[in-house]
Amino acid sequence: MPLFLRHVPAALLILLLTAAAVDVSSATLPPDFLYLVNTLKNTISDPTSALSSWSSSSTSPCSSWAGVSCDPADPRNATVTSLDLSGLDLAATFPSHICLRLPRLSFLSLSNNSFSSPADDSTLSSALAGCSRLVHLDLSQNLFTGSLPESVASLPPAYLPRPLREQLLRLRILKMSYNPFVRGRFPDEFGNLTNLEILGMTECGLYGEIPAGVWGLPSIHLLELSDNGFTGTIGEEIAGAQSLSVLTLSRNNFSGSLPSVIGSLVSLSDLSASDNHLNGSLPDSFVNLGQLVRLDLHNNELSGVLPKGMGGLKKLKELNLAHNRISGAIPGELGNLPVLNYLDLSENNFSGSVPDELQTLQLNQRMQLLS
Ligand SMILES: *[C@@H]1O[C@H](CO)[C@@H](O)[C@H](O)[C@H]1NC(C)=O
Ligand SMILES: *[C@@H]1O[C@H](CO)[C@@H](O)[C@H](O)[C@H]1NC(C)=O
Ligand SMILES: *[C@@H]1O[C@H](CO)[C@@H](O)[C@H](O)[C@H]1NC(C)=O
Ligand SMILES: *[C@@H]1O[C@H](CO)[C@@H](O)[C@H](O)[C@H]1NC(C)=O
Ligand SMILES: *[C@@H]1O[C@H](CO)[C@@H](O)[C@H](O)[C@H]1NC(C)=O
Ligand SMILES: *[C@@H]1O[C@H](CO)[C@@H](O)[C@H](O)[C@H]1NC(C)=O
Repeated sequence: MPLFLRHVPAALLILLLTAAAVDVSSATLPPDFLYLVNTLKNTISDPTSALSSWSSSSTSPCSSWAGVSCDPADPRNATVTSLDLSGLDLAATFPSHICLRLPRLSFLSLSNNSFSSPADDSTLSSALAGCSRLVHLDLSQNLFTGSLPESVASLPPAYLPRPLREQLLRLRILKMSYNPFVRGRFPDEFGNLTNLEILGMTECGLYGEIPAGVWGLPSIHLLELSDNGFTGTIGEEIAGAQSLSVLTLSRNNFSGSLPSVIGSLVSLSDLSASDNHLNGSLPDSFVNLGQLVRLDLHNNELSGVLPKGMGGLKKLKELNLAHNRISGAIPGELGNLPVLNYLDLSENNFSGSVPDELQTLQLNQRMQLLS
């Protein structure tokens, strides 16, 4: 027995030998998997052993490693294309240069964990360098600080070699909601991410105005911007977002009136802008939003009368206009909405009595009209 092992207890010796054996077999894994098991796994705190399947002795990592998908599935020659580590109770700093180590990565979700910004790079710009293949990036519900929103959409630092300076222009889904980012403006550069379909930025510390370029994103379908500190008006530029189906702007500081052109967003199914300072009346063009399922504008300063023809919004399930200054009669046609199950018109300035049609409404949930 070599001198340096003389005093090592037998059990530990077996462990040491096992580790040596593992090292040998791990050499057969393709490089992407060696990175995951030998580098990434070691940087992650994993109290529930969610990554225990990441083992260097594995012969079929593509089919057996938690959260890992590959292309092709042939384990001898596979590259990792998708890494989904959402909700695994993991804690780590963001894996810098992950895209250099996993060059074919197109899907990365770290959502609902305790990932944080690298200590030496508060902008995360260079940490995401080389990630130009990413189509889906989900960093929501983590502990990211710094100003990630800027770095995602802007050009990475000039000192990086050219291939690493590409922007994340292939992104279709970008979710960063619920992170303790430092307060910052919504960068104009987001208008450059022209493939975006889903942009989740709820509670991201954003303030100021929404850049016009965001409304011009040609394929944007879901835009979640609630719980920030946005100010300014919702301008005519909103008409550019023709493919919008979900728009959430609640709990910000928007003011002014809703532009009439909002009625041209005929795919809208969910419009939530509660708890702002919106004023003026609901534009008549609202009756064109035939796909609306949810309209929540409670806690604003809306006035005027409700547009005629609201009864044509046949898909409405939830209508909440509570706590505004809306006046006039409550349109009886609201009682004919076939799937309405939540109606709150309380704390407004409606006059007259509750129409008969509404008296007979079968509402499953809370219904308040006048209070
Ligand atoms: C690995 O797969 C690629 C195609 O995805 C192929 O071009 C290459 O020849 C394969 N290499 C080996 C060693 O099998
Ligand atoms: C977050 O992950 C935990 C497990 O770590 C899970 O129980 C919870 O449902 C997840 N929450 C969301 C909102 O996905
Ligand atoms: C990105 O957007 C900004 C601001 O809208 C613009 O000035 C810049 O030229 C754009 N960059 C690229 C590479 O498109
Ligand atoms: C919200 O806007 C009002 C003016 O409409 C302003 O007085 C107030 O300070 C703003 N609040 C925040 C948190 O920005
Ligand atoms: C709405 O509020 C703005 C100030 O934010 C004011 O200039 C405008 O006159 C108001 N409009 C109505 C209809 O109350
Ligand atoms: C409420 O409506 C009445 C008339 O029905 C009007 O006199 C009053 O000014 C309105 N109040 C507000 C806050 O709009």
